[in-house]
Amino acid sequence: MTAQLIDGNALSKKIRADVAGRTAALKARGIQPALSIILVGEDPASQVYTRHKVNDSTETGLAATLERYPADLSEADLLRRIRELNDDPAVHGILVQLPLPRHMDSHKVIETISPAKDVDGFHVASAGALMVGQPGYWPCTPYGCMKMLESIGYDLRGKHAVVIGRSNIVGKPMALMLLQKNATVTICHSATADLKALTLQADVVVAAVGKRNVLTADMVKPGAVVIDVGMNRNDEGKLCGDVDFAGVSEVAGWITPVPGGVGPMTRAMLLVNTLEAAETMAK
Ligand code: GUN
Repeated sequence: MTAQLIDGNALSKKIRADVAGRTAALKARGIQPALSIILVGEDPASQVYTRHKVNDSTETGLAATLERYPADLSEADLLRRIRELNDDPAVHGILVQLPLPRHMDSHKVIETISPAKDVDGFHVASAGALMVGQPGYWPCTPYGCMKMLESIGYDLRGKHAVVIGRSNIVGKPMALMLLQKNATVTICHSATADLKALTLQADVVVAAVGKRNVLTADMVKPGAVVIDVGMNRNDEGKLCGDVDFAGVSEVAGWITPVPGGVGPMTRAMLLVNTLEAAETMAK
C-alpha cells in the first residue's frame, strides 16, 4: 500500500472530544444541549443507527431522546409531534430517521422540522443556505468528508474533484462544499458516459454510490485523494465501500478505509451540528 490512510476513527475521536468540551461549557451556563430523535416503525438498520446516535450523544454529554412510534402512526400525528419539538426551547436538534413508512411523505415531514433545529441538514432551507453560502446545517456525511480533507491540510483551490453519486444528502451537497473551497467539481452518476476518463483527471474522488468496486485502481490518477462514502457487504459478508480498497490504495496518495473512515465522521458531525444548534440558541 502506498496511499496514506485518513483515519476516520481517530479524527472523529478528536471531534467528539471537542464537542464534549464545548458541551461542558454550555452546561456550566445552565444549558443542556439536547437532540430529539424520532423513529417510526421497526426497520432493523434504523434501529441500530438511532441507537448509535443516542449513545454517541450521551457519551459526549449531549442529552438525546429516542421517541419510537409504531409503523402505523399517522402522518398528521408525526407532524404534530415535530411541531411540539420545534416549539420546545429545551430541544436544540430534531432528527427524523429515514426511511419512513410508505404512507408518509418524507419531504413533507422533513420540511416540518424547524430549519434552526435541522441538525441532519436535510431541510430545503438548509440545502438552500449551502447553495448560496449562508450559515445553515450541513448534511453530516459530506460535512465529515470535508473535515477529513481539512485534517490532511489539503488545499482544494484549483483542484479537480469528481463526485460519483448525486443524492440530495451526499453527492449534491458534497459538490457544493468542494466548490465553496474553490475546487472545480464534476458530478458523475449512472448515466455518465465515460466515468473512467473523468476520474483519471481527478485530484480528489468522492465515491458515494452504494455499489462495490465503483472505483478501481485503473480509474485513479497517481497521488489522488480518494474518499469512500459507500457502505456495502462483500461476498464474505464483510463491510466494504464503493472503492476497491486493495487496488486503489496502491495508486492513490490518500484514502479513507471502510469501516473506520467516513462512517464515524458522519456520526461525529451530527454531534457537532447539535452542539452548534444549542450554542446558536444560547446566544
Ligand atoms: N437514514 C440513514 N441515514 C440517515 C441519516 O443520516 N439521517 C436520517 N434522518 N435518516 C437516515
